[in-house]
Amino acid sequence: MERLVYIKTFGCQMNEHDSERMLALLAGCGYRETLSWEKAQLILVNTCTVREKPEQKAYSILGRFQSLKKRRPEVILGVAGCVAQQEGERMLAKFPFLDFVLGPGKIHLLPEILKEVERGRKGVCEVGFEDTRCMDLPLPPTPPLRAYVTIMEGCDNFCSYCIVPYVRGRERSRPSDEIISEIEALVQRGAKEVILLGQNVNSYARNNPDELTFPQLLAKINEIQGLKRIRFTTSHPKDFTEELMDAFGRLQRLCEHIHLPFQAGSNAVLERMGRGYTREQYLAKIKKLKGLIPNISITADVMVGFPGEKEEDFIQTLELMQEVEFDALFSFKYSPRKGTKAAHWEDDVPPEVKQRRLETLQELQREITLRKNKELEGEIKEVLVEGRSKNSPQEVMGRTRCNRIVNFPGGYELVGRLVKVRIKEGLPNSLRGELFDKEETGDV
Ligand code: SAH
Ligand code: SF4
Ligand code: F3S
Repeated sequence: MERLVYIKTFGCQMNEHDSERMLALLAGCGYRETLSWEKAQLILVNTCTVREKPEQKAYSILGRFQSLKKRRPEVILGVAGCVAQQEGERMLAKFPFLDFVLGPGKIHLLPEILKEVERGRKGVCEVGFEDTRCMDLPLPPTPPLRAYVTIMEGCDNFCSYCIVPYVRGRERSRPSDEIISEIEALVQRGAKEVILLGQNVNSYARNNPDELTFPQLLAKINEIQGLKRIRFTTSHPKDFTEELMDAFGRLQRLCEHIHLPFQAGSNAVLERMGRGYTREQYLAKIKKLKGLIPNISITADVMVGFPGEKEEDFIQTLELMQEVEFDALFSFKYSPRKGTKAAHWEDDVPPEVKQRRLETLQELQREITLRKNKELEGEIKEVLVEGRSKNSPQEVMGRTRCNRIVNFPGGYELVGRLVKVRIKEGLPNSLRGELFDKEETGDV
């Protein structure tokens, strides 16, 4: 009998991808996804603990499922993700109605855990990290057009504010032949674009001289026939090498877009964050990159309100943004995370100051993004068409190589194709265009 699973995901692209992979594993156990939790026989909450907000959301949804468990005790309820890893057995003590707790390093064990729960075992807890097995999981039967591919897990950087190294473990890189065969299989099943995932992709296989370097891995993926585009995320500025910058110019499938979080514009703050680069070093890399690849799109993460952040530090963040002119920016208010170095320091920037700095920064970024989107008006861009537009059934949506969303009038037959679109209007968060040439000229 077919059973239904409801999965709620918080957090980053790695967590979203983990959810996709868990669904693929569950498909092998006879489960199909439902978007309605009332109908599900299995409920999975895939949690994130990088900031206070997503963690709180995960806890509040668990509260909601507690009453469901009372009404329907036969529903299996599990918590996965980074809160599960962080809390482990403590999670079971806090929420005794949970059937299992599963850390991200153990997701390959999900089918066995379910069997045990079905046999009547209560409170199964599997957390911790081993090798790269959690990255080698079955593919979904119909992968999305833009498919995530994990190339490494974990992080060794221990930025002073960040919980990720504790909840994702030490850096482990997946063997390159496994990555290549996964991408080949995805392309055979219809994927057109791959997004290589890792907390710090540019230190791929850093400690393994027998493995390809990250730029070499990109070059190999670039040869896969039928694959149209390659992207990767996230890169760390300190490991962003010239060899990698050159790859953008050399590899025709590699999209001209880099996500390069800078976190703060002041050297004093960067130093306390333990980021391993200065403002000047970051800016020098950006300058070199723009010199080599003038149309590169640069996005980043930034934080406000880190302990000890003064107004002049914050102004330096704004100045850095003005100098770089990011295409998009993901901005966050600092929140202390238990177990990290910075959690021992006083969280001394008042909440209202954090809020004001965040709003100031977001307002500046809105102006920059809109200006850059308007600059594209009149240009002809290669777009990979992904599906129907949310705006209108007569329109389709896709992305440019620089990762901007474009909506334009067109039919469903364009989905999956690389077409040329003339940009007519730059909007705050997207572009509007018209089809210029539907022949696939971009594929090589
Ligand atoms: N591996 C990536 C992303 C890590 S988490 C990197 O190294 O950049 C995603 C983003 O969350 C970070 O870039 C940072 O901006 C933000 N973040 C991490 N810890 C945080 C904290 N304690 N408070 C607020 N934002 C945080
Ligand atoms: Fe966290 Fe820093 Fe690692 Fe990114 S590089 S995951 S911010 S510790
Ligand atoms: Fe969150 Fe874990 Fe990702 S803490 S940001 S889900 S690695």
